Amino acid sequence: MGSFSALRVHRNAEGTVRAGLEALTLDDLAPGEVVIRSHYSSVNYKDALAATGKGKILRRFPLVAGVDVAGEVMSSADAGFHEGDRVLVTGCGLGESHDGGFSQVVRVPADWVVPLPEGLSLFAAMALGTAGFTAALAIDRLEQNGLAPGRGPVVVTGASGGVGSIAIDLLSGRGYEVVALSRRPATTDYLQSLGAADVLDPKTVTASDKPLETARWAGAIDNVGGESLAWLTRTVQPWGSIASIGLAGGGELHTTVMPFILRGVS
Ligand SMILES: NC(=O)c1ccc[n+]([C@@H]2O[C@H](COP(=O)([O-])OP(=O)(O)OC[C@H]3O[C@@H](n4cnc5c(N)ncnc54)[C@H](OP(=O)(O)O)[C@@H]3O)[C@@H](O)[C@H]2O)c1
Repeated sequence: MGSFSALRVHRNAEGTVRAGLEALTLDDLAPGEVVIRSHYSSVNYKDALAATGKGKILRRFPLVAGVDVAGEVMSSADAGFHEGDRVLVTGCGLGESHDGGFSQVVRVPADWVVPLPEGLSLFAAMALGTAGFTAALAIDRLEQNGLAPGRGPVVVTGASGGVGSIAIDLLSGRGYEVVALSRRPATTDYLQSLGAADVLDPKTVTASDKPLETARWAGAIDNVGGESLAWLTRTVQPWGSIASIGLAGGGELHTTVMPFILRGVS
């Protein structure tokens, strides 16, 4: 195999991070049994943090970025995969500690590789991407905790983002009444087109110093952390649950034990 193009991230001695397209060969990539011809990857929140150096995402340098990939197997030293198999990889350290998906050729350990599920194209797999996978995992976890469409509305914070927007789409498709929390009024039409019944502005709802407020939500998906997550703890219904996914608004959390001991929030 000749050279191929990849987006690789470097850090110099002063700690400055820079990313750019480079011609690499297979020997430049981290080891693995399966070599994949990449068709699509997705641009994830983590990729932006990694390629700009704004977050401590990469565990080594230089490293090819990209936390996911969908493509066709070119060769496999593992008997479980064969040339031409359509596969995807998401997470597992891809684009964090192992050369990632922003490359025409990707090499990974065989146990990270997932056969492309029936009914999903390579494009659709990455249009959903790791953000979509995360949204689906959050809903699955809430449903394991007892969430069901008849139990009441579900609120999604950071609604216009990658995880939030797909969560709204998935929840409304499953029959939930969904309320979106977004700082951007301009996204209201978009969020309603995905299935949000209502769109709230965090500025108008999250500020309060009470330990509990009117119980509204049967469940919540939180991408923001900080004040938004604290507000959710105060407003989730008895026995409701919150899937805490992200910290786009901050890693701190100021709340009390009241929602947990008086309302059984989990
Ligand atoms: N993407 C993934 O696969 C994944 C996986 C696991 C965890 N996470 C975490 O989940 C969070 C969201 O990821 P994402 O991919 O959805 O990111 P994203 O596409 O950047 O969306 C984040 C959303 O959060 C809101 N937001 C951003 N900055 C904010 C701030 N300072 N204060 C309040 N709200 C803010 C915005 O929504 P509005 O403008 O609508 O308010 C924004 O669209 C991140 O913390 C990420 O680390 C993501």
